[in-house]
Amino acid sequence: MTELGPVAWPPAPIRTERLVLRESEARDRAAFIELHSSAEVHTYLGGPRPRDELEREVPEVPGRRPGTFVVDLDGAMIGQIQLVREPEHHRPAAAGKVDLGYLFLPRVWGFGYAAEACAAALDWFDSVFPGEPVVLATQTANVASMRLVAKLGFTEVERFHAWDAEQWLGMRSPATPSD
Ligand SMILES: CC(C)(COP(=O)(O)OP(=O)(O)OC[C@H]1O[C@@H](n2cnc3c(N)ncnc32)[C@H](O)[C@@H]1OP(=O)(O)O)[C@@H](O)C(=O)NCCC(=O)NCCS
Repeated sequence: MTELGPVAWPPAPIRTERLVLRESEARDRAAFIELHSSAEVHTYLGGPRPRDELEREVPEVPGRRPGTFVVDLDGAMIGQIQLVREPEHHRPAAAGKVDLGYLFLPRVWGFGYAAEACAAALDWFDSVFPGEPVVLATQTANVASMRLVAKLGFTEVERFHAWDAEQWLGMRSPATPSD
């Protein structure tokens, strides 16, 4: 359909033990603005966007694009997961591949929600794009993110310097039938 590739979007909501991954709705707008204006969330992401700018510019239904899941806990948005194909990725090893990104509200860090939600999103990806790898870039200083990528099965492709920091590019290859 779009950047992600030939896939029907949105899929039916994905249920995990504690969470639901679903398309965004108008009721997510406040959490979306909170997430994108949080200095804590953006410590390793180049800084947050100003809240007043987000209040003006975020559409009534925020973040509706193929590959973007809202992560819902007990009926409220706690985070966002994005799977985006990057034809122009600045690292040649990642060009044309789908890139995983994740942002969770600080009050829910430390409960395993990010790992649970990202694993479910990757399972969905494997089911619709069998055999395709997924890439991910994160700062090495982002310790929580580095732990998460290891749990999700990403392995290092390269480290590089960009945006005044050391960056880590990882790749996750899907399980093969013999695994
Ligand atoms: C990166 C980020 C998503 C990680 O969130 P997180 O909550 O630390 O990650 P997890 O879901 O893996 O949970 C971590 C901890 O919860 C604990 N936990 C508590 N209850 C748990 C449960 N029931 N199941 C699993 N883990 C549980 C685990 O011990 C785990 O700690 P560990 O990594 O030491 O084992 C979060 O820090 C964030 O949103 N950061 C800002 C955005 C960002 O930097 N994104 C990177 C973009 S590339």
